[in-house]
Amino acid sequence: MRDDEWEPTLTMKRALIAERRSEVVCYRDDAHEVAQEAGELVLSWLGKSSANSGVDVLVDAALAVPDDLTVLRSMPDDRLPFVAGVVCSPSRWKLAEKIGHDMLAVHKPVALYAEQIGGAVDTTLERLSPEKPVWRSNWTLEDHPALFQPSSPGRALVDHPSELWIRIERETLRRLPRTRGILFTIRGFQEPLSTYVRRGPETIRTLRELVARLPDSLARYKSVYDYRAATVSWLDSLLASH
Ligand code: HEM
Repeated sequence: MRDDEWEPTLTMKRALIAERRSEVVCYRDDAHEVAQEAGELVLSWLGKSSANSGVDVLVDAALAVPDDLTVLRSMPDDRLPFVAGVVCSPSRWKLAEKIGHDMLAVHKPVALYAEQIGGAVDTTLERLSPEKPVWRSNWTLEDHPALFQPSSPGRALVDHPSELWIRIERETLRRLPRTRGILFTIRGFQEPLSTYVRRGPETIRTLRELVARLPDSLARYKSVYDYRAATVSWLDSLLASH
């Protein structure tokens, strides 16, 4: 998605890949072929190519778009482990801890995943075809503005909900025709909550309902729990003033 954040995000990614490479580029030894195909696909979309091979092509591609690029490999026994990634905008998770794992293990910290989401994810991945990419998006509230947040601070960082940020991710999934692996892309957007609510009462009302109705376990996972009561009251006061 082309926007004003494209260039600043690329600048951030260049710095992270140069200075903290082991945290943002991780892969398994058997990832090169599928990572190269994924990187070539992204570069070809931009009309570009790479002189490199293997995972280095994925890194070149990740330096050309603001999105994070992750790759699943299709194994002979039909498993789809997460084998390579260039991830500069993690929302409080560590790339190195995820490499080599299947979807259930990757999503272990995600509340209600195994019970309510895992089966649908597996089916979506199995059915994915090169001709029909799919996308999803998610949201969370964060108390720090950085796109690169590999760990959770473990305590509340702000006093008032107007100081929070809303983080929205746009994710795409596509089957790779040659290796039959999967490219999963993640683009993170951070916006001050105080700006986001200027979209109007409909937006405020929807957010208020989402925040109020999140099951506690999900609210904890999304770092919303500590701020929930104050955020709902603040959103109510904004609605009252409209
Ligand atoms: C249809 C496909 C998928 C669905 C429905 C899905 C669902 C989710 C959900 C619900 C979360 C919690 C955050 C949120 O609200 O989004 C999450 C987190 C995450 N997902 Fe997925 N996911 C999918 C595919 C993938 C794939 C292919 C990967 C491959 C790397 C992946 C990696 C992750 C990671 C690393 C997290 C953060 C986990 C943590 O906090 O430790 N997801 N996913």
